Amino acid sequence: MVQAVDPASRQAVDAALRGFIQGAFDIAGTDDADDLPQSRIHFGYIDGIAQPQLAIEGLPYTPDGSQGKIAAGAFLWGQPRNPAKPFPLPPWTSQVANSNPFMNSSFCAFRKLSQDVAGFEKFLDDAAQDASRRKVPGFKGERDYDKERVAAKLCGRWRTGVPLQESPDRPDYEAMPQVAAAAREAVRAAKPPKQLNDFDYGEDYFAKTGSNSHILRANPRSAPEGADIASAHRVMRRAIPYGPQYQPGGPETDRGLIGPFIGLDLADQFEFIMGAWFVTGAAFTAPNPEPFLGPAGDFSLQFPTGYPATPRATCPVYQPDPTKKGRHPQFITTKGSAYLFLPSITALNHLAGLSS
Ligand code: HEM
Repeated sequence: MVQAVDPASRQAVDAALRGFIQGAFDIAGTDDADDLPQSRIHFGYIDGIAQPQLAIEGLPYTPDGSQGKIAAGAFLWGQPRNPAKPFPLPPWTSQVANSNPFMNSSFCAFRKLSQDVAGFEKFLDDAAQDASRRKVPGFKGERDYDKERVAAKLCGRWRTGVPLQESPDRPDYEAMPQVAAAAREAVRAAKPPKQLNDFDYGEDYFAKTGSNSHILRANPRSAPEGADIASAHRVMRRAIPYGPQYQPGGPETDRGLIGPFIGLDLADQFEFIMGAWFVTGAAFTAPNPEPFLGPAGDFSLQFPTGYPATPRATCPVYQPDPTKKGRHPQFITTKGSAYLFLPSITALNHLAGLSS
């Protein structure tokens, strides 16, 4: 993986790298990926807002609700782990820091995830019209707003990045007045508006955010289902969009998200989220799969309908034929996958110094 600030630097490092490995490896293929404007990803959401913040002295900290800093040992081999919430690590990680040549290395699940943007936009449109026709609470009968509302329910954030938990009914930054100006400025400067990450899931999380949304399932924060364990299952995301930006009616081409999902214990971090929280969601009220990476199949996504009166009532997002169960489509397909070691500089030096 070569990560660079602009295409010219990327090309320069890429050329150097090809020079180093010439004759040692055959290059089977490469993928280039670039940020889209405003830190958006192909479904139109602003991304890169929520990331674990490590307890390492001197690193800047942006408030992220009551989550606090995460022990660096969840991401960096040899660093202290959280004694209050230890999760099991393989025995080889227990080496003492000073004698560990792999100090500060990590692991990642590398993914190439293809996104069907046209299919996603059509689903939003169909579901919005359906919800409006059925007079689902919160839908206004205004096509654009209703479509954004469906998009927000799937993710847990409006496509602007504003979290539903802070603003269940409106997507604009003024809904979070204390951070609106800073968030707008960050988006103008093409940076993720990290200020929009300062929230917790309160008692009312089910009615405001819902129980299926991508960000709730990926990190339940203080929701009852995650309160004691959420901080033990964090991942650090560095995937970015590949392929040209989607234009309605434009040529069909492959596009999606590519890059690493980082954590020292992939089983308890990446795999736990993908399995226990995305696919089955058994721990959650209304345990439907999560809509982006859960399986496609014969179920309808559930929207909370009770906000604020009957907070645990739900109704299906979209049922093309009310006599049958809705069939939830798949918008994201895994095109490539690898579990990788991410060596630290110490580890690279150690490996380079080995005689054979
Ligand atoms: C193409 C596939 C994916 C799409 C379109 C997608 C989209 C998003 C979006 C829009 C956000 C909100 C922005 C933010 O909070 O920074 C988000 C957050 C997040 N996603 Fe994904 N994501 C994808 C894949 C994954 C995968 C494979 C994982 C596996 C662990 C994952 C885990 C997370 C986590 C942990 C968060 C932050 C949640 C939080 O702390 O509140 N995502 N994603």
